[in-house]
Amino acid sequence: MKNILILSSKNGSNFEAIIKYFKNRNDINFKLLTDNKDAYVIKRAKKLAIEYICLNKEEIKEFFLKNKFDFVVMAGFFKILDKETIETNTFINIHPSLLPKYKGLNAIEYAYVNNDTKTGITIHYANEYVDEGEIIFQKELKINPDWSLRKLEKEIHKLEHYYYPRIIEKLLGLNVLVVGGGAREHVIAQKIKESNLLDTLYLADCNDGFSSLGNKIEYTDYKNLALQAQKRNISLVVIGSEEYLANGLVDILNKYKIKTIGPDKNFAKLESSKLFAKKIMAKYSIKTAPYKKITSINKIDKYLSYFKNPIIKANGLAKGKGVYLSEDISSLKKELVYFLNGKYGISSKTTLIEERLYGEEISLFSFWDGESLLHFPLCRDFKQNEKGENTGGLASICPIELDYMTNEKLNIYKEKLLKLLKKEKIKTPFIVYSGLIIARDDIYVLEYNVRLGDPEAQSLLNYIQNDWLEVFYMCSIKALSSIQLKEGKKPITTIVMTSKGYPNEIKKGVEIKNIVPLNNKTKIYFSNIIVSDGKILSNGGRVLSVTSDNRSDIYKTLNDIEFNEKEYKILDS
Ligand code: AMP
Ligand code: GLY
Repeated sequence: MKNILILSSKNGSNFEAIIKYFKNRNDINFKLLTDNKDAYVIKRAKKLAIEYICLNKEEIKEFFLKNKFDFVVMAGFFKILDKETIETNTFINIHPSLLPKYKGLNAIEYAYVNNDTKTGITIHYANEYVDEGEIIFQKELKINPDWSLRKLEKEIHKLEHYYYPRIIEKLLGLNVLVVGGGAREHVIAQKIKESNLLDTLYLADCNDGFSSLGNKIEYTDYKNLALQAQKRNISLVVIGSEEYLANGLVDILNKYKIKTIGPDKNFAKLESSKLFAKKIMAKYSIKTAPYKKITSINKIDKYLSYFKNPIIKANGLAKGKGVYLSEDISSLKKELVYFLNGKYGISSKTTLIEERLYGEEISLFSFWDGESLLHFPLCRDFKQNEKGENTGGLASICPIELDYMTNEKLNIYKEKLLKLLKKEKIKTPFIVYSGLIIARDDIYVLEYNVRLGDPEAQSLLNYIQNDWLEVFYMCSIKALSSIQLKEGKKPITTIVMTSKGYPNEIKKGVEIKNIVPLNNKTKIYFSNIIVSDGKILSNGGRVLSVTSDNRSDIYKTLNDIEFNEKEYKILDS
């Protein structure tokens, strides 16, 4: 149980917002302390069935010398507390300005009469001085010149009521659930585990290679998963892969008011329907390869003739195998027949024929919190194997540097993307993964995904030095603008160890031995393994990946792993 005391002298609208926000939490005890027996906040406390006490100045001091809380939250409390009192507990305060501007009373009014173009709110640790102490969080508010003072006050209070509970939640320590079982989810779980903001980590659908990082949750369906998350006071669900998104996990979590990062089922079509993505790109003049939709075998010859170098692409999700690239037109035709006959079920019954673009590919990950977009350093994914077949990804590097001109083109693309998200009124936070190609002296979008990439995540999450739980959480509460990215000093590489034959037929259940990272800056992340009778066995095409800032350490680690089906890509050093 966590104990929070709220201090309020008057109206108590922040008090009410906090209590209501945490109403489903069974692990927090709230109490109200007021210094004003006529305060309206007492009425609110009675209505919300929250225990309250009313004390005078001397009694307050005595009270704090005797009582200890996890946090003391000041919500419109007008008594100044002395140093001795303040040092008994951790006090937090909220103030309606961007401190250090306008300390003390009437902060909103000052911003208004001074015709400021912006103001905001500040949440900070309190000390014995008024509105001082270390700043925890600030949110800016642009002031519309047409607003009345009343309107500005209303907008400020809206921000307070939204952010104060959410920042308190973060300070209390977060229970987090990571959903998914690949190496991407392994690195996400590992980074969250290392965060100081974490209370308890939960895992759903993890693989045996990282199950020891958290408490496993077994579930029957998404509703059941949401209910279990609620029971465990989970504040944030981080979803790794596209299937959950396309199948509506976010919609269900939203229904239960559980925060997550991912589009709802409708906007997940950006990844799960190539046609949807093409249409939205056309609407915002985002450059992409010309295409034609095909559903009937009779049209194959006619449609293929429209393209110089055609490729084919299943409209729906196909586990990263939905693109067929071949310069040999007869094998392309043969494959197109398989696609249209349902090689990937409904996903390929509608297929796109598309012009092939030639150039360097880059992956751009951008976090969208519903208001602002945070772009991460570029990554590269190496998708093609030695036979030229497309795979889910065999290696990755982060960061990738671009020349000046290409970077300018990228900036234009970023502006278009922002416009798209704003105009389409996308309110759910999610990760935009732009699969880009530098072709014809420009930037083209090959594909959109709505999640982190695998194996890009392994490199990106190790390159960026921020607290990743903070990045995910702040994204989930529309507070990304407070994140400053801290880049690492050296580029990071990830190499995937696959089973022979991947992306086609592979042998499962083959024992793997001697999985030992060469040193502590070499990381191993598991994708498809199971542990059976104490043995580690392969269980899929991509088995594990090795990440480091030193390529030779990666290759030494891979080399020492004993696995009869072992294959991996060699990148130039
Ligand atoms: P997608 O299924 O759209 O996610 O595409 C997966 C991969 O297929 C991309 O990362 C590219 O390597 C390749 N690809 C897709 N579209 C094209 C294209 N028009 N030209 C060249 N390669 C493509
Ligand atoms: N690396 C490709 C993907 O995650 O889709």
